[in-house]
Amino acid sequence: MTANLLELRNVSKVFRIGGLVFGTRLVAVDDVSLSLPAAEPSILSIVGESGSGKTTLARIILELEHPTSGEVLIEGHPLFEKGGAGLKGRDYYRAVQPIFQNPFEAFNARKRVDKYLFNAALRLKIAANRKEAREIVAEVLESVGLDLSRVEGKYANQFSGGELQRISVARSLIPRPKLIVADEPVSMIDASLRMNIVNLFLELKEQYKVSFVYITHDLSTAYYVSDYIGIMYRGSVVEYGPSEHILTDSAHPYTELLLDSVPTVDHKWERQVALPDFELKEFQAQACKFAKRCPYVQPICERTIPPMVPISDERQALCYKPVDFAPNSVKQTGANEALATAGK
Ligand SMILES: Nc1ncnc2c1ncn2[C@@H]1O[C@H](COP(=O)(O)OP(=O)(O)O)[C@@H](O)[C@H]1O
Ligand SMILES: [Mg+2]
Repeated sequence: MTANLLELRNVSKVFRIGGLVFGTRLVAVDDVSLSLPAAEPSILSIVGESGSGKTTLARIILELEHPTSGEVLIEGHPLFEKGGAGLKGRDYYRAVQPIFQNPFEAFNARKRVDKYLFNAALRLKIAANRKEAREIVAEVLESVGLDLSRVEGKYANQFSGGELQRISVARSLIPRPKLIVADEPVSMIDASLRMNIVNLFLELKEQYKVSFVYITHDLSTAYYVSDYIGIMYRGSVVEYGPSEHILTDSAHPYTELLLDSVPTVDHKWERQVALPDFELKEFQAQACKFAKRCPYVQPICERTIPPMVPISDERQALCYKPVDFAPNSVKQTGANEALATAGK
């Protein structure tokens, strides 16, 4: 059996906020399980409004943050395992690469941008010498639509945000990674250029056989680019599955709400669905976090945390609704099993 490229098993991250005495716990990532198959390169979008835990999840996959509990596996190798045989150092950076939200923060203003690229090729031992490094750098820049001669010798402030983000993408390709984790890579870029970068992910998926975790609050670009979508709400992945199903036949009421709130004019979804004072209570709720605004709410939703209900082979939703609203027997069987496990 081929291991999944990426697998998260019951991953949680708890932050303590406030003082020791009056402080409180914030479950920024709450028991998230999902997997990305290794067989074909694919794009998984994690979609959620601001504060839903997307960056924390990305940082855990990138090994920048330790989960409070749970496991992350890359090609079957557990990260964070004490003394384990997980991916270490160079191997990890070869396999998984980041693209961050703000390209101007990713490059030091006083260091020439091309140096980052050459160093990436040499330090990770992708290139044996400077000549090879040059060839590799020229090739990755060409893949993102840039010419080395236009990049060489320049500093970050001599590029536009869109160009610099392309250079970030080029840099991430140098180690020939299996997975690129891009945290809101287009949110700081001029709206008219966003689709170019998103399109680039689709091209690179084919050209480099690289998979992406694309983190965004923009459901319309996610829909356009993804093979799989995970919808996050208050730290939980509330729905997960192949993107066409999630968007044409959503199972979770929150996904329905998101779809309703996608504006049609500029295809940008930035609406704040929740009130801030709700937020902490919802993060801590020992019930469905969406119950307070769910049009289908039932008494059980206010009493217990719903189970992740399998709806079909690849689809799941964190919701009791599929049990009562299921139109077919697949939903019913999966839902009943999940409820039995949850001890209803
Ligand atoms: N280092 C931290 N310490 C305390 N709280 C944090 C920390 N990082 C994130 N949080 C909180 O966790 C929640 C999720 O944040 P984040 O992962 O940045 O969400 P998103 O990327 O979806 O906007 C937010 O309420 C945020 O304030
Ligand atoms: Mg974020």
